[in-house]
Amino acid sequence: MQQRAEQIRRPGKTIAFVPTMGYLHEGHLSLMKHGRKVADCLVASIFVNPAQFGPNEDLSVYPRNPERDMSLAENAGVDILFLPTAQDLYPEGFETYIIQENLPDHLCGLSRPGHFRGVMTIVAKLFNIVKPQVAIFGEKDFQQLAVIRKMTKDLNFDIRITGLPTVRESDGLAMSSRNKFLSQNDRKSALVLYECLTKARARVSRGETDAGEIIKTCETAINSKNDTDVDYIRICDPETLNDLQTIDKPAVMAMAVKVGGTRLIDNILLFPPGTEPG
Ligand code: PAF
Repeated sequence: MQQRAEQIRRPGKTIAFVPTMGYLHEGHLSLMKHGRKVADCLVASIFVNPAQFGPNEDLSVYPRNPERDMSLAENAGVDILFLPTAQDLYPEGFETYIIQENLPDHLCGLSRPGHFRGVMTIVAKLFNIVKPQVAIFGEKDFQQLAVIRKMTKDLNFDIRITGLPTVRESDGLAMSSRNKFLSQNDRKSALVLYECLTKARARVSRGETDAGEIIKTCETAINSKNDTDVDYIRICDPETLNDLQTIDKPAVMAMAVKVGGTRLIDNILLFPPGTEPG
C-alpha cells in the first residue's frame, strides 16, 4: 500500500482516504462519494481495530461482511480498498501507541478507557501507510473527529481532515454498523435519541440556556423507553468538550445510550438565538 501510494503521489496526484471498520452503510458511502470528488485517487480501508475495543466490548461480534463491502465500495468509486490483517498492523512486538491529553477525558473516553488511544494509533498508522492528502470522517463520532483533528495538528500530519454530517434512517436513527444488533423493539426505543436531540436543539434556538434542565428532560424521556440505559448525556463546548452549564454560545449535545445492550451514540449542534451559522 505504501508503494502504491508513492506511485500515485509521485506525478502529483492526490489521495483521499476513508478509514472504516467495514459493514458499510450509507454513512460510510457518503464519505466515499465525497472523497471521490476531492482527489484523484480514493482509498478506503476496512480494519476492525482490536486496539480500540475494551476487554468487555463487542470486538468478537462486531458485524462483518467483506464481500458486500467490496461491491459497495466499488460502486461508491473506491479505487483501492485496503484490507490489512491484525497481524499486518500489530505484528508481535508492537509497542508504540499514541495518547492525547484532555479531549479523550470526556464523553465516550470516560466509559471506554483506552478507546481513543487505540483509534489514534490505528489512524496514525493508516495515515503513514496510505499517505493521503485528505482524510474523511463522520460527525456521528463527534469526539473521534475532534481527537483526530487535534492529533493531526499536534503531530504535523500534512493531511486535511474533513468531517461530514451524520447520515440518518428516514425516521432519524443515526446510521451505524451496530444498528444490526437492535431487535424490533430496541429499534423503536432507539428513536428516542434523535428525538431528544432535535427537541433540545429547538429549545435552545427558542432561548433556553440551562444545560442541566435540557439534560434532565432528555434523561426522563430516554428512561421512559423500554430497555434503555443512559451512559452519558452532555452539553459541551464543541472544541474543548468541556461541559457547559449555560448555553450562551454554539454547543454540542452528545449522548451514549445502551438500547437492549447495544451502545448507540449520537449528537447535535445547539445554536442559541443569533448564533446560527450562515
Ligand atoms: O470510526 C471508525 O470506524 C473507526 O474508529 C476508525 C476511524 C476506522 C478507526 O478504526
